[in-house]
Amino acid sequence: MEFDDLLHARRSVHEYSDETIPESTLESIFEAATLAPSGYNLQPWEFLVLRDDERKSTLKEVANGQDHVETADTAVVVLGHTDPMAHAESVFDDWLAKDYLPSEEVREALLGNVEGMSEMPESDRRTWTTRSTALAAMTLMYAARDHGVASCPMEGFGADALTEAFDIPDEYEPVMLITLGYAAEGAADVENERKARRPVEEIVHYGEFDPSEETTLGAADD
Ligand SMILES: Cc1cc2nc3c(=O)[nH]c(=O)nc-3n(C[C@H](O)[C@H](O)[C@H](O)COP(=O)(O)O)c2cc1C
Repeated sequence: MEFDDLLHARRSVHEYSDETIPESTLESIFEAATLAPSGYNLQPWEFLVLRDDERKSTLKEVANGQDHVETADTAVVVLGHTDPMAHAESVFDDWLAKDYLPSEEVREALLGNVEGMSEMPESDRRTWTTRSTALAAMTLMYAARDHGVASCPMEGFGADALTEAFDIPDEYEPVMLITLGYAAEGAADVENERKARRPVEEIVHYGEFDPSEETTLGAADD
């Protein structure tokens, strides 16, 4: 699909059919997600994939009872590692081997930078991992749509209840949930006119930041 078509075709879908996503399609979708950019290419993301009814039902309980967690073929818990050092050594080995770094000394210096990031307060490290992990989540949703698979990103869940229910270690931030499945025939999410977006002139600021206090969303109704 052309990127412009993909942008317009992606919607947050709540109504799914019973059709199963083939494993090969899921694999392609996750493969695509790995191509997202990340700070220092540290790739802090991991995905807990839930496909059976029992696990999806447990997820629904910690996701404010949102039905589409259960009715979607697949629910994904998007997790971000909060320690920047988790994969740093192998990432910089790769950079050195491929001449992205001129020398072992530069590799050591970069490792030193990342070690410094590892010492940030926990709340900063949670923000750090959310930046890159959210980009992987977005990449995953576009890749899914490119395969005809609809999705819905979700922040409506209890992080503590989720980590307890699925034994997620403390060093991971649950960044978001994503439901994946084929949209139901005639799903309102897909058929309805697209939800409005704030206009470019309101959100883009050239040179100086001058936030507008009023939104022009819905102005057409005035
Ligand atoms: C960070 C984030 C959290 C969201 N949380 C939920 C959620 O908990 N439940 C839900 O049904 N939709 C959720 N959504 C979907 C939004 O409602 C949806 O993206 C928005 O209304 C725009 O519609 P569109 O995605 O179809 O363009 C979330 C979206 C984002 C980006």
